[in-house]
Amino acid sequence: MSALMLEIIEKAKKAGKRVVLPESNDERVVKAAVEIAERGIARVILVGDGAKLRAEYKELDLSKVDIVAIDGNPDAERYSELLYEIRKSKGMTAEEADRLTQNPLYFGALMLKAGDADGMVAGSISATGDVLRPALQIIKTAPGISTVSSCFVMIMKDRSFAKEGVMIFADCAVVPQPDPEQLAAIAVASANSARAIAGIDPRVALLSFSTKGSAKHALVDNVTAALKRIKELAPDLNVDGELQADAAIVASVAALKAPGSPVAGSANVLIFPDLQAGNIGYKLVQRYAEADAIGPIIQGLAKPVNDLSRGCSVEDIVNVAAMTALQA
Ligand code: ACO
Repeated sequence: MSALMLEIIEKAKKAGKRVVLPESNDERVVKAAVEIAERGIARVILVGDGAKLRAEYKELDLSKVDIVAIDGNPDAERYSELLYEIRKSKGMTAEEADRLTQNPLYFGALMLKAGDADGMVAGSISATGDVLRPALQIIKTAPGISTVSSCFVMIMKDRSFAKEGVMIFADCAVVPQPDPEQLAAIAVASANSARAIAGIDPRVALLSFSTKGSAKHALVDNVTAALKRIKELAPDLNVDGELQADAAIVASVAALKAPGSPVAGSANVLIFPDLQAGNIGYKLVQRYAEADAIGPIIQGLAKPVNDLSRGCSVEDIVNVAAMTALQA
């Protein structure tokens, strides 16, 4: 395990937050819940049928895990009313709210909204969209933030890139086709995550297939417009664009293609122009360069909800729960 992950776990232990895991019909989630509770990383709330889980997992000590059933739960009515209040202006009926409250992903998001939990981790058996939609509809964005996005902490084997090989890639999981305003929001949020989670001083590169006007295209204009907006939103942020990936991270290429740029050649936060580039980019680096990819870390929600990959391990769930506790 990386030094950074160990640090995050230690910080999470001190935070003492309540993390809800709604997917108790996945064995990995139940095992992770026990480990998180036993190691004191967070107080865990598992959504499921306690008697059934204890019978199914006789070998596990579930005594430190809070198990909350949806069926017959006295809070379910309160949550359903809360959901109806939040969504009635969007056409949701009381019956629909009742039905959705029975869905563990909605139930978990409602626990956060009601103040009964501090963060949620799901996605080991659900698609990203199904995890994010209740969060976007119920928890919504943090004050002053219009776009929810995500970042990955990438830990490179080659430590010559950035400080100890730690970089941030964004957005690789949420906003499919960001406009300049959304791209600017992704960059600012990722710089904040770089400081708060990875403990690095952000040097942000807005990536493109062009460096400083070398190509002319509407897609490049999207990136330069985002840079202009970032300068308004965060005038002190160390950011530049548009930059090709090599100009962003290789000093000798930066000297040729973007001389005088404040971040070219030494960027540690890479902002991809859209979700196709971001998602493909992080997976290529993860596989070819054998980098550790921690995330996606969802940024910009009023309370943290993080999505797991369906191929995740018990250790991945524990790590994401630690990160979530830290964000909370
Ligand atoms: N930030 C803030 N609000 C948002 C965002 C956002 N990024 N996206 C949607 N919303 C809002 C909508 O405006 C809407 O608000 P309202 O209903 O209160 O008016 C609400 O959230 C719900 O929106 P929907 O339209 O129901 O959801 P949508 O269909 O836009 O889906 C989602 C949002 C799920 C995030 C979508 O953009 C998506 O599927 N993204 C890609 C996810 C994905 O597949 N990632 C790749 C895999 S992940 C991996 O490989 C690591």
